[in-house]
Amino acid sequence: MKRTSFLFLSYLCSLCVSAQTVKEVDICEKNTSKTYKVYTTPHTLSRTATLRVKTARYTEFYPVIKGQGTLEIYSGGERTFIGTKDNKSYPDWTAFSGPVHVYPYTAVEANCGFYGIIMTSAGKNYSPEDANPTSKINKTLANNAVTLHEGAAIATEKSAAGIRIGELNTEAGSRLYGYYKSQSATSSAFYLLGASNTDATLAGRIASCENKGAVDSKQTVGIIKEGTGTYTLTGNDNQLSGTLRINAGAVMVCNDVQQAQAGKLTGGTGAAANPSLPVVYVFSGGTLGGNGNIGGHTDVYGTLCPGVEGSGTLTLANYATSAPCNLILHPASTLAFNITSSRHYNALSVSGKLVRNALKEDFTEGKEPCKVTVALADDAEVKVGDSFTLIHADGGKEDAGLWSFAVSLPSRYTWSVSEKIADNGSFTLSLTCTSLEDGGGDQPGGEDTPGGETGDDNDPSDEDIPDMGLANNLFLRQYLDKIDTNKRIGVAVPSTWKTNVPDNPGSTEALAISNNFNIIVAENEMKPDWIQAEQGKYNFGSGDGLVGFACNNGMLLRGHTLVWHAQVPSWISADGKKNDKGWTRDQLLQILKEHITTTVKHFGRNVCEWDVVNEMLDDDQSIVRTNPNGYQMRRESIWMKVIGEDFVDSAFVYAHRANPDALLYLNEYDAEYNGSAKAVALFNLAKRLQKDGIPIAGVGLQCHLKVDEFDKARLNATVKRYKELDMNCILTEVDMAIYSTTPAALKKQADAYKQLTEVFLENDNCPHMIVWGINDKHSWIADKHATLFDEETTGKPALRSVRQALHKYANRYLWQTPIAAPGEGSGAAEEVSRCNLSGIALPVAMPGINLVRMSDGSVRKELVK
Ligand code: XIL
Repeated sequence: MKRTSFLFLSYLCSLCVSAQTVKEVDICEKNTSKTYKVYTTPHTLSRTATLRVKTARYTEFYPVIKGQGTLEIYSGGERTFIGTKDNKSYPDWTAFSGPVHVYPYTAVEANCGFYGIIMTSAGKNYSPEDANPTSKINKTLANNAVTLHEGAAIATEKSAAGIRIGELNTEAGSRLYGYYKSQSATSSAFYLLGASNTDATLAGRIASCENKGAVDSKQTVGIIKEGTGTYTLTGNDNQLSGTLRINAGAVMVCNDVQQAQAGKLTGGTGAAANPSLPVVYVFSGGTLGGNGNIGGHTDVYGTLCPGVEGSGTLTLANYATSAPCNLILHPASTLAFNITSSRHYNALSVSGKLVRNALKEDFTEGKEPCKVTVALADDAEVKVGDSFTLIHADGGKEDAGLWSFAVSLPSRYTWSVSEKIADNGSFTLSLTCTSLEDGGGDQPGGEDTPGGETGDDNDPSDEDIPDMGLANNLFLRQYLDKIDTNKRIGVAVPSTWKTNVPDNPGSTEALAISNNFNIIVAENEMKPDWIQAEQGKYNFGSGDGLVGFACNNGMLLRGHTLVWHAQVPSWISADGKKNDKGWTRDQLLQILKEHITTTVKHFGRNVCEWDVVNEMLDDDQSIVRTNPNGYQMRRESIWMKVIGEDFVDSAFVYAHRANPDALLYLNEYDAEYNGSAKAVALFNLAKRLQKDGIPIAGVGLQCHLKVDEFDKARLNATVKRYKELDMNCILTEVDMAIYSTTPAALKKQADAYKQLTEVFLENDNCPHMIVWGINDKHSWIADKHATLFDEETTGKPALRSVRQALHKYANRYLWQTPIAAPGEGSGAAEEVSRCNLSGIALPVAMPGINLVRMSDGSVRKELVK
């Protein structure tokens, strides 16, 4: 016997020995009532085990599952929740990596809307442009290969769901929905597919639920391709109303175009819910290919490879609506073609026009050309005179005279390239073989100019700077107090012991505050619900306590916040979103004006700056993709709903009139990292306000950050961008979440805090950095150990790293600042006493910096080498 067949036989035997075991769980129990069946018994599935679950139409299935065995779900109807029906939770399957099969189970109840599973989003709202997407994604199926069998479906609960599935294959006759039924409000569902780095096929239909016979455009469904694998779409009546976004790997759109055309079907993707926006985004890590049709505009930052394996045409056309579909190309995007023969080559057919858009994926502008690359197959059969129409666009080429492709030709043979506009306005790019002699490859166009800034500024490295004698164990603020800088480091005074800080200035926490920080902010006591809990009755007591505390300790006080959709007094709105008291626009403007005027006037010069408006932007800022000056205001806010966007303008004007000296800020979260959509949106709003003459000093980045996602370069770039507007950009609510307090986690946190402090110190337009909470016990996210002090208010490694950054900064500052010798300058006077920077009296001048007190009371710095 050959060795291979022997091996095969022994493999078969081993299968016999470890036979599959099937455990069946019937939670359907032939029940058709609306009483939910709940199943939570945990299971550990060995590799050979199968758990077969039969569900009813009303089922909550959320057991913990572990292991590598198989899970089969037979869905008895449209309300088989994987999680709880109230959208609060989903099960923990993090340690479960086996295959999952979803089948329809029609035996109990016929004619349900569909037979499938419903994924919940645990109340988290996901947007594909989120700065911190992973924390908002349902990851129940992130480690599994899921197969959706004929007749089965996956849908989501309402809201904005992000559902990660490691691998998803769908059979023809199955369906991927968004929210499972039609309703008047909008819901969006994104399936993030491909994290397992495998290839898969989506043969089922992808489309939202029906509303009166047509697909409901309010319940959008979208796909985000992740991972290195290739996903092939073969369905012919898909409507990816929520867009297809290719972040990584490839997506091949391979539906049957002839059938789509004949049947006026939507084809491989259909159009986006708003058909003027793109339906497909190909990001720089992604590739789009295939020989099917795309029914909407296609927006490419990455690579488009029309066809399949060297032949075939990818078509941008919508046969259901006949609306033209454009191809939008960003700097350095690539269209890649292969040529084998005049019959076998890739081509691209666009029913709309070609558009060049100068924005890059990080929203900066780029000049790199759009590229066309052409490769010749090894076995190519090409004759002189053969011509290849690679791109045809019925709608022509926008701004045709202003840009052309950088075409990179095969190195074999000699070619001519032509870009032509026909009399009817259509555009073609074609290639003709002019000689079988080698022409030497790349001809027109050129290589990308390397973009972006490089290197450091020209500051001397700190090795060149002598030690100026600052002690390395000072309190944080001392490093700033000793130098002539406008920078201040601060902390939010927590509400848990709110009245105790001013009253008990000797408590451990109060001392940690007064020793280390020279600016404070009320964590809650100056928010509207605190100050004006009852209409017209102002309660400034706690705020005034902080004014006194700040004054006694040489601190500044910043004000937070005048307008917000949260912590709104209940007499204005029950939840800050609804207009349940029926205010008119004029009434609400009047309320806003009175509150701001009274509050800002009351605190007067005791408050140096105000967060005028807090968190006014929507989480979803996809709009900046199509409008580079755009931003989306938060919709769920009574201020926005009743007054409109100009509530922001009015709030700034009221505050400015009440105290023209106060610096006025917009304060926002998730806008820290340059290149994220929300960072662009905040910048755009600030710019708009400035342009309209609104007295805005700058923006506050809240900086509720996570250690693992911390990115100094991008934070730095955001702060720097505001210099363009001559605006401040301050860090207002810093904390840095970690999930354990192991030495390694604390060290990582310390490194991130240090880098963040460097961003604060290295930018002139960033005068303030405020930590949100004095210690991990009093922090608003107490379980995330996110502050500088532990539960007992002992400094953590993060405190030391912030101190190091401050020390280095102060040392450099002292070195670079000219120092007058004692007795020099105006009002020369006698030296009275001398001390070092730590305040320790020096009998004689010591190397380093000495502080010399003169008889006229002034203090001079003296550098002794
Ligand atoms: C938080 C406080 O820390 C909590 O004590 C309170 O219960 C809710 O508000 N962004 C902001 C702050 O702008 O006002 C929030 O403060 C934290 C998030």
